[in-house]
Amino acid sequence: MPHHCHLETKVLHAGHSPDSTLSRAVPIFQTSSYLFRDTEHAANLFALKEPGNIYTRIMNPTTDVLEKRLAAIHDASAALVTSAGMAAIFYTVAAITKAGQNIVSGANLYGGTRALFENTLSRFGIEVRFVDSSNPANFEAAIDQNTRLLFSETIGNPRCNVDDLEGIAAVAHAHGIPFVLDNTVAPPPICNPFEFGADIAVYSLTKIIGGHGTSIGGAVVEKGSFDWAASGKFPEITDPDPAYHGANFWQALCTLEGTPCTAFCVKLRTGLMRDIGAAPSPFNSFLFIQGLETLPLRAREHCKNAQIVAEFLDGHPAVTWVNYAGLPGHKDHARSKQYFPIGPSAVFGFGIKGGLEAGRKFIDSVKLCSHLANILDAKTLVIHPATTTHSQLSEAQLAEAGVSPDLVRISVGIEHADDIMADLDQALAISQG
Ligand SMILES: Cc1ncc(COP(=O)(O)O)c(C=O)c1O
Repeated sequence: MPHHCHLETKVLHAGHSPDSTLSRAVPIFQTSSYLFRDTEHAANLFALKEPGNIYTRIMNPTTDVLEKRLAAIHDASAALVTSAGMAAIFYTVAAITKAGQNIVSGANLYGGTRALFENTLSRFGIEVRFVDSSNPANFEAAIDQNTRLLFSETIGNPRCNVDDLEGIAAVAHAHGIPFVLDNTVAPPPICNPFEFGADIAVYSLTKIIGGHGTSIGGAVVEKGSFDWAASGKFPEITDPDPAYHGANFWQALCTLEGTPCTAFCVKLRTGLMRDIGAAPSPFNSFLFIQGLETLPLRAREHCKNAQIVAEFLDGHPAVTWVNYAGLPGHKDHARSKQYFPIGPSAVFGFGIKGGLEAGRKFIDSVKLCSHLANILDAKTLVIHPATTTHSQLSEAQLAEAGVSPDLVRISVGIEHADDIMADLDQALAISQG
């Protein structure tokens, strides 16, 4: 593939050249391990003296194509694919944070991330300071000398809030720490987070990248320009690695002028992935590659349908409010237009007249829409967050996350928009009965 191809070409070609079998599709390398040619070859691989495959927990040729392709569509230096989005988030935080240190995160997060940050990381002595992400000054106020990263989501769910990403990035960089953004709902072509100041993007591939609701997976994508050495805060990245006889990945990979740095993903692979092993199945990597190949087409259809459906709901007599950043009345509409030229993805919340009971009736009455706990499947999905995805949160946390009892979350699929609206209309009518 020529170097400067468009996104639509990269999703089909980046990271793969047909091998000796001439298979056009990326083959599934369903193997746990790889033969060594001889003992010298084996020793060199283990000592990282030559590149090659050892064991699928750490690397796999099918997954490698997916990783290279994900990096290419972001114009980024590297990516690491994990068995779930949650593992991508945990690895990213755990790689550069230890007991006694903290991270600062926007409060309005996917419920699973909130639970990881609030309940699990704290057991390992890592504090997460939650702030209202609508103002970068709130991040600034929570930072101290032990803060190791800032974390947020590109589009909040279900509020559909779009924060000042460049402002948050500027705060992070002024303190010599990276800005990590969960860009699950808005991958390119919706948004390249590295154009707006993020240093690391984390993904649940389970959503729009896989696109068909078949597999769980995650990814960490590294932009490659963050200077891990400048602040002296990241010895995990910049110092010799005792687990590799003192090898210094930072010096080896990131000090050559003009070469994008891959040290963060290399450290994730040789450290946490090796030690903990949230590795993807090669078959799932293959399915994610199939999803990626049509991502630009599907993303445009999702955004187009979401806008149509949001406008329809906004004018519906049984609907009290709609929180879609594509609507001119949304508080972040202007920023949404700046960050998301094709639209702010396809997940948003709306309120039903009649509150909790009407919400339940609506969910029980949809026929085309699927009632389940996922987002950005090709099919339209609905759920009642207060009794499902966010049910482990306290009342205060629910309020902070913007989850009210009347809230229905919709993830608009790529069926014909008229069919989606007809289904919503009939279910809304029943909800008011
Ligand atoms: C924004 C966001 N981040 C992360 C995750 C976690 O991803 P996974 O379910 O693939 O572990 C999800 C899952 O719903 C999500 O919506």
